[in-house]
Amino acid sequence: MCGAGSDEILSLLAQAYLSAGDEAIFTEHGFLVYKIAILAAGATPVAVPETDETANVDAILERVSEKTKIVFLANPNNPTGTYIPHDEVRRLHAGLPSSTLLVLDAAYAEYVRRNDYESGVELAGHADNVVMTRTFSKIYGLANLRLGWAYGPAAVVDALNRTRGPFNVTGPAQAAGIAAVGDRAHVEAAVAHNEKWLSWLSEELTGLGLRVTPSAGNFVLIHFPDGAGKDAASADQLLREKGLVLRRVGGYGFPNALRMSVGTEEANRAVVAELAAFLESAG
Ligand SMILES: Cc1ncc(COP(=O)(O)O)c(C=O)c1O
Repeated sequence: MCGAGSDEILSLLAQAYLSAGDEAIFTEHGFLVYKIAILAAGATPVAVPETDETANVDAILERVSEKTKIVFLANPNNPTGTYIPHDEVRRLHAGLPSSTLLVLDAAYAEYVRRNDYESGVELAGHADNVVMTRTFSKIYGLANLRLGWAYGPAAVVDALNRTRGPFNVTGPAQAAGIAAVGDRAHVEAAVAHNEKWLSWLSEELTGLGLRVTPSAGNFVLIHFPDGAGKDAASADQLLREKGLVLRRVGGYGFPNALRMSVGTEEANRAVVAELAAFLESAG
């Protein structure tokens, strides 16, 4: 089933499966659209603590009750970039009642290069209560065309198809999506670029004394030291003045961090150079 971005699908899932009195779970620093979609459906959002900025399966299972209708898991998550291995996803699924829908949001799946990772396609293909969402917004670079998709049990896809708008995905977006899946060279080049620059950025930023959350996606979460002059807000302001736009993530519970997407070589080098000068001058 296709949607106007996977955001639309996440909202449709919430609308279809949640109502007042129901609860839906996401993790402490999980993608914020879940909370918005849960609240818009009139249900109660339940944010479960993470461990090392990573989803904790035991903590999620502890919070599941008969009221829990959906568990949303971004794997990898935005803005942390952390992921849980597939055996952990399976353990999460095994611990859920069949009346709870597990939504595996694999928006960044194409970027992940880890042997213990799976997007969830197999689980969504076999289990009655698992649906996987994907997007053309990330590795395919088509965010502005708004194209995402969901794969899961016929009953869930049927519910989504009956509740979506009949014209939710435009013809140009469909044409671009079809072309994009055929463009394997683009995906390979994007993965190779990301592999190289994600580790370069992580090492360089760590070398500047900044803590970087280990990321499996195409971005890094950079934590700044507390204290006047060296914080994320000051760094963000300076970078913006140079035309380098990172993302403030205070709304995600990280008041003193910035999320940086892996960019071009020029942009990556510019951010590291500016941050080096910033930390030096502020120090
Ligand atoms: C984890 C995650 N899921 C879903 C989305 C939604 O992307 P889109 O609606 O463009 O498909 C994003 C985008 O930021 C994301 O980070």
